[in-house]
Amino acid sequence: STDVRLAVLGCAGVGKSAVVVRFLTNRFIWEYDPTLEATYKHEVVVDEETISLEIFDTAGQDESGSWTAWADALLLVYDITERASLTHASHIKALAARPLPVVLLGNKIDLEHTRQVSFEEGEQAAMELGAGFFECSACTSEGGLSEAFLELARETRRI
Ligand code: GTP
Ligand code: MG
Repeated sequence: STDVRLAVLGCAGVGKSAVVVRFLTNRFIWEYDPTLEATYKHEVVVDEETISLEIFDTAGQDESGSWTAWADALLLVYDITERASLTHASHIKALAARPLPVVLLGNKIDLEHTRQVSFEEGEQAAMELGAGFFECSACTSEGGLSEAFLELARETRRI
């Protein structure tokens, strides 16, 4: 089976851990400690091939780049209720040491009433990054949360 190393990146509090936990366990927990660093292993099947995902849930301010040489693919998470988190996500990609498959994921769509970034703006930002794009809620599990991970697995396998 293929191994894919996937780094989950974005501002503190955008819901990186919540997204990872939802993907791995289909659960949502309200209280998360700010992440230090955590790595999980999870097998997925895409196009009839088993892919072993290693998922690195980074800490909010991970500009140190401990992931830059490690990662095969990047999941850039922002919070649709915090415009600055989208700007930040766009900057992170520039830190990658080489071109990698990237997906931009707008989280917290259950908070529609406090939305600051429209779907179209997110989509546009993703296009500029050459990234795939999804929105989701780790809280309610609506949207393309799993699809974001699966697209990265599929894209990386192609390389
Ligand atoms: P760091 O590890 O500190 O970088 O933060 P993080 O990006 O891992 O965020 P975390 O998953 O800890 O979530 C931060 C807060 O946002 C928590 O209070 C979560 O309950 C909340 N949260 C995460 N995802 C969602 C979501 O989809 N909807 C709502 N309403 N809240 C969410
Ligand atoms: Mg976290």
